[in-house]
Amino acid sequence: MNKLKIAIQKSGRLYEDSIKLLKDCSIEINIGIDKLKTTALNFPLEILFLRDDDIPQYLEDGVADIGIVGKNLLLEKRKRIKIKETLGFGKCRLSIAVPKSLSYNKIQDLDGKRIATSYPFLVREFFEKRYINAEIHEISGAVEIAPGIGLADCICDLVSSGSTLFMNGLKEVETVLQSEAVLASHLHLDSTQHIIMEKFLFRIRAVKKAKN
Ligand code: PRP
Ligand code: ZN
Ligand code: MG
Repeated sequence: MNKLKIAIQKSGRLYEDSIKLLKDCSIEINIGIDKLKTTALNFPLEILFLRDDDIPQYLEDGVADIGIVGKNLLLEKRKRIKIKETLGFGKCRLSIAVPKSLSYNKIQDLDGKRIATSYPFLVREFFEKRYINAEIHEISGAVEIAPGIGLADCICDLVSSGSTLFMNGLKEVETVLQSEAVLASHLHLDSTQHIIMEKFLFRIRAVKKAKN
């Protein structure tokens, strides 16, 4: 029997809720110790645990057929993939934050600043639209420590509870975009994969409805 491969975040903000979604859809899984991949016990689904940042690329390449990923990453990576459903969890925003000690009044205060981010495309677009000249430093993780170690003046990163910013002495000053988790798919699924995906989507929609 053919299986559909779903990519979910290995650890981080979306992990727990992604596992919970499978459970709410009555899909049973055993998560192994290594947590690289696992097969559902009662549904034709293979679960791949990956870094969320890599999921858009894997979906474009067809390494995974479907995936749960933040809209923020889809907009940043601009891969050729399809959004099938918004999932109602993983709500967060991509925001610019500066050290608490910095006085900030308006966006022009960012002019000439060095900004560290894992979202260079979205940040560049945000600044260009507002005629702000900032130096973008792309880093792939632990962005929030960049100002503290003198690597940048400010950052642009995801904020959900705000505790990461708080712990690093940063304050949020501008919102670049709002995001939440979505189910996305590879562009060319075969007919069996398509049928499995539709079954899964049917269950997801039922779960969403029951919550409203
Ligand atoms: C984001 C972001 C922060 C954290 C913010 O990480 O990079 O680290 O979430 O959440 P908080 O406001 O609740 O503290 P993401 O989920 O993208 O994981 P990753 O950075 O490890 O890829
Ligand atoms: Zn991430
Ligand atoms: Mg992070």
